[in-house]
Amino acid sequence: MNKPKRYLITSALPYANGPIHIGHLAGVYVPADIYVRYLRSKGEDVVFIGGSDEHGVPITIKARKEGVKPQDIVDKYHAVIKKSFEDFGISFDIYSRTTSKIHHKTASDFFKKLYDNGKFIKKTSEQYYDEEAHQFLADRYITGICPHCGNENAYGDQCEKCGSALSPMELINPHSAISGSMPSLRETSHWYLPLNEYEDFFKEWILQNHKDWKTNVYGQCKSWIDLGLQPRAVSRDLNWGVPVPVEGAQGKVLYVWFDAPIGYISNTIELCPDKWEKYWKDAETKLVHFIGKDNIVFHCIVFPAMLKAHGEYILPDNVPANEFLNLEGDKLSTSRNWAVWLHEYLEEFKGKEDVLRYALCANAPETKDNDFTWKDFQARNNSELVAILGNFVNRALVLTAKYFDNKVPAINQTTAYDSETLAEIPKIKQNIEESIEAYRFREALKETMSLARLGNKYLADTEPWKLAKTDMSRVSTILSISLQICANLTVAIEPFMPFTVQKLLKMLNISQYKWDSFGKPDLLKTGEALGKAELLFDKIEDDAIAKQIQKLLDTKKANELNSYKPNAVKPNIAFADFMKTDIRAGVVTDCKKVPKSDKLLQFTINDGTGERTILSGIAQSYPSPEELIGTQVCFVANFEPRKILGMMSEGMILSVEDADGKSVLIRPVREVTNGTAIG
Ligand code: MF3
Ligand code: ZN
Repeated sequence: MNKPKRYLITSALPYANGPIHIGHLAGVYVPADIYVRYLRSKGEDVVFIGGSDEHGVPITIKARKEGVKPQDIVDKYHAVIKKSFEDFGISFDIYSRTTSKIHHKTASDFFKKLYDNGKFIKKTSEQYYDEEAHQFLADRYITGICPHCGNENAYGDQCEKCGSALSPMELINPHSAISGSMPSLRETSHWYLPLNEYEDFFKEWILQNHKDWKTNVYGQCKSWIDLGLQPRAVSRDLNWGVPVPVEGAQGKVLYVWFDAPIGYISNTIELCPDKWEKYWKDAETKLVHFIGKDNIVFHCIVFPAMLKAHGEYILPDNVPANEFLNLEGDKLSTSRNWAVWLHEYLEEFKGKEDVLRYALCANAPETKDNDFTWKDFQARNNSELVAILGNFVNRALVLTAKYFDNKVPAINQTTAYDSETLAEIPKIKQNIEESIEAYRFREALKETMSLARLGNKYLADTEPWKLAKTDMSRVSTILSISLQICANLTVAIEPFMPFTVQKLLKMLNISQYKWDSFGKPDLLKTGEALGKAELLFDKIEDDAIAKQIQKLLDTKKANELNSYKPNAVKPNIAFADFMKTDIRAGVVTDCKKVPKSDKLLQFTINDGTGERTILSGIAQSYPSPEELIGTQVCFVANFEPRKILGMMSEGMILSVEDADGKSVLIRPVREVTNGTAIG
């Protein structure tokens, strides 16, 4: 497209059913924020839209589990998520939510317009219905036996064991994941967007005209289109969401993936009620969606089809989706608590928002899945931020304070090396621009750091501290040039590290320059006083990293304990091997929930010789643990002690699992002496 008149930048609306973690930041919000800050610095007209996605089945399930209303869930997490974004400097122009009045109206009107214009088809089909929970079941909430491999816990959309795609009707012995009951089949009608009718359009718009999209994005779109597009239901039988605004649609809401992207529009309306149409309906606007790879089909195919069916809207110019970030080699997972939660990070690394932004951008999963490791995080901080950026700025400022009364010295005579050094700055600037505009943020960040490297090398090569005795005129030039590089850095790093820039500006005693000043050697005036030099970054010590790694190891152990499946048939063992196990009976003298864990109980057991602590993952089966005090249990006494969530667990309490998944403790049928061995 020609040079756009304005930019409309959206970032995926996170589901408001849990806090957010580093994967969200790395994949979507840090890149989007860098792009937007860069555009603002260039003086472009840009709006940056964010918000929470507050509809959908998972939120209703979570509410049911916790015995609260869906609205309570989304109120809670919307606030938590919004705060995390603010804390990390994600500079949305608006962060709103899909339960807002404006959104309900916008989404409802959007549907109505498509409906009135005959853009949907209506289909009736039989779907599973949970008689106990009184609701139709989304595919994911039906479990049963996989017809291909016999896995007993296959989902209605997929078997995770053999990987087959399934439909709920194929499951043998289907059960509702909500109530556990056997669902019945009921007829229901829904509206579908006939994506098949848009196939030619997508072939041209994406496959022909958007070869510029990232390979991962283009590739996914191509395989969808090649497989043939199918009509997609845009409504659901559910009582949480935007009601379908047509007669006879009681009990039906818009499918969450229909209403959520419209949230981008609603939030723009809320932000600028008078100007929003310029952003959404003028061909000179450049629309870019920042998302993770699991959202590609919705942003490249479904939403564009909706916009096209509506007729008045522009389509995205680009959808620079990222791949996934893993954590220490494993997939990030909310349910397994395998994550670095943003709110927890900030408690443990106060004031280090930019260090995380930096580490995540430097390691962003732009072209493939990537791994976040605490060691890498530490190295990025210590050997890049501290050793290169922080060190350069600090040396320039400290030397100026020492030799020039903390005032910007003059550039006297310049050497060829000085001019070469200065000539590098506009080149670096251009490289950064090219990288950011191509959505290659890792590369852009590397270029940005090369400006600090340039300064570091310049100081190391010219050694002003050695010249101070003989040639102050030369020292003046060198420090002045170094300080000008620092001033250029304030422009270069702002999109990446907005907090650090504030410190640096204060130290240089200037206010923020715009992008077009970047590259100039005279951003600081000779004779101007500087502020006080402070360290921009400090070293992260090994023990802080060890603590984080230990925390993850604890999580792993707790997960193992929780997922222990006692039912598998095991090979025979020798009697002698069995005799190695020291199983004993003992009385429970104390029993309580482990804070911050919904699975673990902390038992204190009298084992005949004294008391020992054992953690057991059965809290959900024993909601009133205090009732166990005074009863006897059986435990493995010579189980190697291990640390779980910071506590030593000395043994393993024996229980069996009931058919409904509840754990049942094993105990002698009448009381025995504490410490008696079983065998
Ligand atoms: N809530 C979705 C997710 O987290 C993303 C929605 S993006 C929007 O995967 F387009 F719907 F807004
Ligand atoms: Zn299977």
